[in-house]
Amino acid sequence: MRMYDIIKKKRDGQELSTEEIYYVVENYTKGNIPDYQMAALLMAIYFNKMNERETLDLTKAMINSGEKVDISYIDGIKVDKHSTGGVGDTITLILGPMIAATGVPFVKMSGRGLGHTGGTLDKLESIDNFKVNLSREEFTRIVNQTNIVICSQTSNIAPADKKMYSLRDVTATVDNISLIASSIMSKKLAIGSDAILLDVKVGKGAFMKDLDSAVELSNEMVRIGTNYGRETVAVLTNMDEPLGNAIGNSLEVKEAIDVLKGNGPKDLYDLSIELGSILLLMAKKVKNRNEGKEVLEEVIRTNKAYEKLIQLVRYQGGNVEQIKNPDLLPKAKYIIEVKSSKEGYIKSIDAEKIGLCALKLGAGRETMDYKIDLSAGIVLNKKINDKINKDEILAYIHTNNLNKVTEVEEMIKDIIEISDIKGEDKKLIYGIVTKEGVTLY
Ligand code: URA
Ligand code: CA
Repeated sequence: MRMYDIIKKKRDGQELSTEEIYYVVENYTKGNIPDYQMAALLMAIYFNKMNERETLDLTKAMINSGEKVDISYIDGIKVDKHSTGGVGDTITLILGPMIAATGVPFVKMSGRGLGHTGGTLDKLESIDNFKVNLSREEFTRIVNQTNIVICSQTSNIAPADKKMYSLRDVTATVDNISLIASSIMSKKLAIGSDAILLDVKVGKGAFMKDLDSAVELSNEMVRIGTNYGRETVAVLTNMDEPLGNAIGNSLEVKEAIDVLKGNGPKDLYDLSIELGSILLLMAKKVKNRNEGKEVLEEVIRTNKAYEKLIQLVRYQGGNVEQIKNPDLLPKAKYIIEVKSSKEGYIKSIDAEKIGLCALKLGAGRETMDYKIDLSAGIVLNKKINDKINKDEILAYIHTNNLNKVTEVEEMIKDIIEISDIKGEDKKLIYGIVTKEGVTLY
């Protein structure tokens, strides 16, 4: 087989065989195929697309490029939850303790943030001594004793995807449904959970800017998961504005604690309850979603979910005093108020752009080896459709470095659009995709 012929075939709009796809993925991972040939093939795929069979083969080949993590020895039905990447998305830190508090195991291998989106591991590391790298023995002991573990995934899951994703990132070939679906699903399927819940973000801060393409991506991922014998459900959720008010690592830990204590932002709470109720249904803990919601509201009301977070932090070596008293979490030296120059209603808060502001303050990383500032970030004082007066506070900048403040302040004023009239209420959840089909709300 020759890479040249495979590129030419896809360039001319033909279907690649299973053997050809396996050949490409295996040899690219091993370094036998150079980046320039792989880039050419990815661009041909971008233009001429892959059919369902090709996408499935690509996913399988990427799973087989690395390690598979067996978690079948953990009792109960394990549901993995994955978000396609949001801004201010603290859901895992809320959902995990809630689910575990109901008695269903929550096993999550998380990643770090890159670009404008944050990562759960970085957030957890704002807690002193919190250990994200666990040995298999530690992992097993903790989850058996507490029902919850959130740790880093081994570096050898789907290495083909890691290499291809870096190349796609610099060759303008990220946004192709087959490539995104196989990339996400290869990493999920390599971990042996029983079911997969996908939170597919739609909107300004997301890969999928409109509902149609998000539905298409969801259908593709559900099809791949189902083909692998894993129940897979995708929930389409709004990412036009950041979730909650806080964007930044320690700021989001504090926000998660607030939600678990019943005092957090409504959108984060509502989304956690929605996703959680689907997850409990998939885990066969409840008979329907309403029952799931009741069970989850109960673990918040009785503080059981909050206690579960404390337990998670304790078992993974973190300082629980910082959970009991969030003032002890890393704090920025300066908190600067950003005030509105006019009166009206908040029209939009582009999540991606706010994420980039947080990145500029040091809360995120542009390259994987950058050391992030755990205390830096932004706290929004207003959300879409809120009323704002002139000189009222739009947001707070948390920073240790005054050099960037003027620039970020101007950016925030630009990003938060204000209108004279109040807009329509936005949906937090657009719909749900299962193997039975698409239900839009
Ligand atoms: N997230 C991934 O892991 N892969 C993609 O291709 C896009 C988003
Ligand atoms: Ca948030």
